[in-house]
Amino acid sequence: MFHQLDVADPSSAACLADFIKHKFGKLDILINNAGILGVTYQFDDDSDLDKQLEGKNANVTMEWWVQQTFFSGDELKEELNDVDKLSEERLDELAELFVDDFKNGELESRGWPAKGNGFVAYKASKVLLHAYTRVLARKHVPSLRVNCVHPGYVKTEMTRGTGDLTVEEGAAGPVTVALSPPGGATGVFFFRTEPASFV
Ligand SMILES: NC(=O)c1ccc[n+]([C@@H]2O[C@H](COP(=O)([O-])OP(=O)(O)OC[C@H]3O[C@@H](n4cnc5c(N)ncnc54)[C@H](OP(=O)(O)O)[C@@H]3O)[C@@H](O)[C@H]2O)c1
Repeated sequence: MFHQLDVADPSSAACLADFIKHKFGKLDILINNAGILGVTYQFDDDSDLDKQLEGKNANVTMEWWVQQTFFSGDELKEELNDVDKLSEERLDELAELFVDDFKNGELESRGWPAKGNGFVAYKASKVLLHAYTRVLARKHVPSLRVNCVHPGYVKTEMTRGTGDLTVEEGAAGPVTVALSPPGGATGVFFFRTEPASFV
């Protein structure tokens, strides 16, 4: 069964929620898969982006992602790791702060992922999503389990087919976590099917 959804439009999300409620009464599993790179690169041709992605293809490891994704300073990192103090409101504020810092050229001085490595908006969105996962997990224990999964580097449109995993191999992580038996992990970051550390 198919239903349209724009995750960036709250009325669209409410419409889907309403549909599920009336059709099925409840939802058992949600995989929040939608994502965009978030920054449009404009080159004379596409070769530079293709080169960046090809370069990644050879070197993608968990360590690479941790180095690439996380922060140039410690303060923000520590704040996002302190799940007991974090709130949804603070994460909204940090998202707005990221946009301001981006516009004002202050990303690195504030401690966001370094701009020189590219894809900064994407990385910031994932970092905030990881933190949000833990806030939601804490809020809903024990009725809901909330986790996030890095699927690995997957051949999709987003990577222009340069990933080293097939879509089926990439999907194994989210599907395994979603189908884990009651009493399983919550508030955990997985790399593929294995729990991984946040920083
Ligand atoms: N591929 C990788 O190596 C990799 C690595 C790490 C994490 N991820 C994450 O895995 C997820 C899937 O990525 P992918 O590689 O499959 O990328 P993709 O091929 O670009 O697919 C992204 C999907 O998100 C949907 N989407 C985008 N904006 C949306 C919106 N506002 N509302 C609803 N749906 C929306 C797109 O729908 P339409 O086609 O209808 O626009 C598309 O189906 C993303 O969150 C990505 O960040 C991917």
